Amino acid sequence: MAQSLNNILKKLAALEEEFKGHIQSVDSLSALEELRIKFLGRKGVVTEHFKLLGTLSPKERPKLGEDLNRFKGKIQDALEQVKGTLKSKGGEDGYIDLTPPGTYQQIGFKNPLIQVLDEVKEIFTSMGFGIETGPEVETEYYNFEALNVPADHPARDLQDTFYLPGGYLLRTHTSPVQIRTMEKRTPPIRIIAPGRCFRNDTPDATHSPIFHQVEGLVVDKGISFAHLKGTLLAFARKLFGENMRVRFRPSFYPFTEPSADYDFSCVFCNGNGCRVCKNTGWLEISGSGMVDPAVFGYVGYDYETYTGFAWGMGVERIAMMKYKIDDIRHFYDNDLRFLNQF
Ligand code: DAH
Repeated sequence: MAQSLNNILKKLAALEEEFKGHIQSVDSLSALEELRIKFLGRKGVVTEHFKLLGTLSPKERPKLGEDLNRFKGKIQDALEQVKGTLKSKGGEDGYIDLTPPGTYQQIGFKNPLIQVLDEVKEIFTSMGFGIETGPEVETEYYNFEALNVPADHPARDLQDTFYLPGGYLLRTHTSPVQIRTMEKRTPPIRIIAPGRCFRNDTPDATHSPIFHQVEGLVVDKGISFAHLKGTLLAFARKLFGENMRVRFRPSFYPFTEPSADYDFSCVFCNGNGCRVCKNTGWLEISGSGMVDPAVFGYVGYDYETYTGFAWGMGVERIAMMKYKIDDIRHFYDNDLRFLNQF
């Protein structure tokens, strides 16, 4: 006997509830396929109900047709959605395929400048030096005055120094750390002070407004210029090899007396003379000297008892020598084509 439309619709509603219960507990792709066959297969629930359309009167048919199509659509959507979730959790039936190639993750590494700085620190600490730091925002007192740089010295010229409001400035060298260290400690002192420095320079192949220095300071009884020469020679040979030579030339710095600029033998031509060293065989590194008694006066050290030596060192310069880099701006451009070579 033919069923009434009402009965069919009630059954359909019950089947919809049944489907909802099943779909929630499906936990594998094969169980999902079973559910699909049961509801949408050739002999499935939906197909069987479409067949009932012929038993209804023409007036009743559209209502059942409409409900069946809506139900079919709902089933299809739910099946698709659960299929997606199951696939993202694993492969077929929760099996995870471990054989596909992985995705390459680029990991970071240290900038070549920092690598060289680490090496410089390692060499000096192995020689018994401690490491000191000081602020990058300094006062005129530490950056200039206590280093015996008089107020009318050209180094104080506005062109070189970045001045800040309130009497502050960006330190132009690491030498103020000498003063800060001596103020808080008594000799013997044997430290290096690595750090960033700032100068109002126009960037070119050898100048950057931000650069790094390593300051060195040794103070004790009986310290002589020979100790300075021996220290820098030992450093140069540890960093660049046993063939390295160091040369000192008379110079002037307000905080050292006597003062000397020092050069390393050219790493590009082993000191034979080339374009980089302008055929001199030497590359200029920085300045050095015996601590001026006037500086000891500022920190309250007795210059009759103690002597000391100090030096500066441009880290970029050392790194350029070490890696044969021809332009200081490479360190700060963050161009991966450059950085990936280290
Ligand atoms: N502070 C100097 C500069 O930036 C370098 C320097 C020279 C440091 C002589 C020293 C020194 O400690 O004794 O050019």
